[in-house]
Amino acid sequence: MSNPTLAAEVGRRRTFAIISHPDAGKTTLTEKLLLYGGAIDMAGSVRARRNQRHATSDWMAMEQQRGISITSTVLQFVYRDCQINLLDTPGHQDFSEDTYRTLAAADNAAMLIDAAKGIEAQTRKLFDVCRMRGIPIFTFINKLDRPGREPLELLDEIEKVLGIDVYPVNWPIGMGDTFRGVFDRLEHTVHLFDRTTGGKKMAPVTVGAIGDARMRALMDEGTYAQMVEEIELLDGVGVPFDIERVAAGKLTPVFFGSAANNFGVQLFLDAFIRFASRPGTRPANTGVISPVAEDFSGFVFKIQANMDPQHRDRVAFIRVCSGKFEKDMTVHHTRSGKKVRLSRSLKLFGQERETVEEAYAGDIVGVINPGTFAIGDTICLGKPLAFEGIPLFPPEHFATLRNPNPSKYKQFLKGVTQLREEGAVQVLFHQDEAKRDPILAAVGQLQFDVVRFRLESEYHVETLLEPLPWTLARWITAKQPEDLEMIDWYFDSLGLKDHAGRLVILFKTPWGLQQMGERNPHLQFHQIAPV
Ligand code: G4P
Repeated sequence: MSNPTLAAEVGRRRTFAIISHPDAGKTTLTEKLLLYGGAIDMAGSVRARRNQRHATSDWMAMEQQRGISITSTVLQFVYRDCQINLLDTPGHQDFSEDTYRTLAAADNAAMLIDAAKGIEAQTRKLFDVCRMRGIPIFTFINKLDRPGREPLELLDEIEKVLGIDVYPVNWPIGMGDTFRGVFDRLEHTVHLFDRTTGGKKMAPVTVGAIGDARMRALMDEGTYAQMVEEIELLDGVGVPFDIERVAAGKLTPVFFGSAANNFGVQLFLDAFIRFASRPGTRPANTGVISPVAEDFSGFVFKIQANMDPQHRDRVAFIRVCSGKFEKDMTVHHTRSGKKVRLSRSLKLFGQERETVEEAYAGDIVGVINPGTFAIGDTICLGKPLAFEGIPLFPPEHFATLRNPNPSKYKQFLKGVTQLREEGAVQVLFHQDEAKRDPILAAVGQLQFDVVRFRLESEYHVETLLEPLPWTLARWITAKQPEDLEMIDWYFDSLGLKDHAGRLVILFKTPWGLQQMGERNPHLQFHQIAPV
């Protein structure tokens, strides 16, 4: 029999991440979600916290210099009795690997789109990762207070470019200067908003039925007539709302609004808690693990070093998958086979830390990392198990990292290994052991700068970086292990191994990759590292 407390706690949880292209308004929306969730009183505090964090961390000084957000945090708040975990992801595309991993810990995604720009490059890449995981995607089309593209055209683009069906849950009334509110298609109500100064407080809203004379009087005639016409049109052409297709990631509920003005934020949140997936089962090597299984289990999806430079610590972020997490518990660390006591467990809100006493599936707990944890590690109680690891995503930039000072070799190696374990960069090695310089492989170029900066500031090793001309990497497997010994090499390729000893081949062009594939039909080429 399942434990009723556990089932109730899991049923209250909604865990998600926001995916978007930089500048679509992720920071603004996050802040407004917190405002409506009662976690902050006045919008503006998230930015303030962000600045505060900049000020207290030295390697993050890089963020400040470049005006980008490298790190991500977890924001937790209660909204209408639901425990919401919002996994914040870095905005800069060079840190998309971090975002990919964060998505592995999320049960839902909110896709944020700028109404004037539509689907942008980064949105598309991140959408593909969500699609791979089959998680529900909720779309928020932002900045309706500015002139943008026609709503129908935007929906059409989502369907065509991303290949997902859309269901507009609400429909904008006016746009740009005339943007007044939205029509809620599920409840058949009109929501008209009033602007507040700088969008700092919740937007006052008047709600009523579409035919209500009071609502009608609040809109000019043209706007009203257009709304009625568009809604009729939508009812006639669109696909029906189907929660199962939402859960399977095949249909995205779409919301229109303006995060800056708080328009549509509450409607989004209300629909989100109603329709978002609860923490579900997760595949492991011992079978499928239920979130309400008695034994605690979880996995590490992110490691962040030196969040507090005073302590020089590393925080491992654990996604709880089953059972109950309790402060001070001693768990089994599957990769090392050791017991680890989780003595310092934290909930993080920006730079603030609070001790976590207990947590359930869907929650994220930060534990001060004694150095044992690496990305993808499982920790559990009861029968040892390992969750499917977090895949390594295809790097597109490569460079040799040199340590010009032989007396610092040990430090250098330690730093490179730790930064790899944290997921700051991928590291590849020559098959010829005499060539000791590791090759860094990154999804975004800026990851190299972070690695060199951190090696210097945290490990006191200065390094040299030599960019390499490769642009593609593939992990290679074969049905018979001996087939890996019989490779017909294309001249313009390089065989390396990753930290786990798996064969990786680098190419300069898709043409080279194609050549290798044709010459070696007995090999499988994987874009994402097999786990
Ligand atoms: P990001 O995290 O996705 O990169 O985006 P962010 O929230 O920082 O927003 C990017 C810009 O878009 C900001 O303007 C922000 O104010 C603006 N923005 C966000 N939501 C809306 C909206 O609903 N309507 C309009 N008109 N603008 C919006 P900025 O000029 O870069 O910064 P700031 O002057 O607001 O500090």
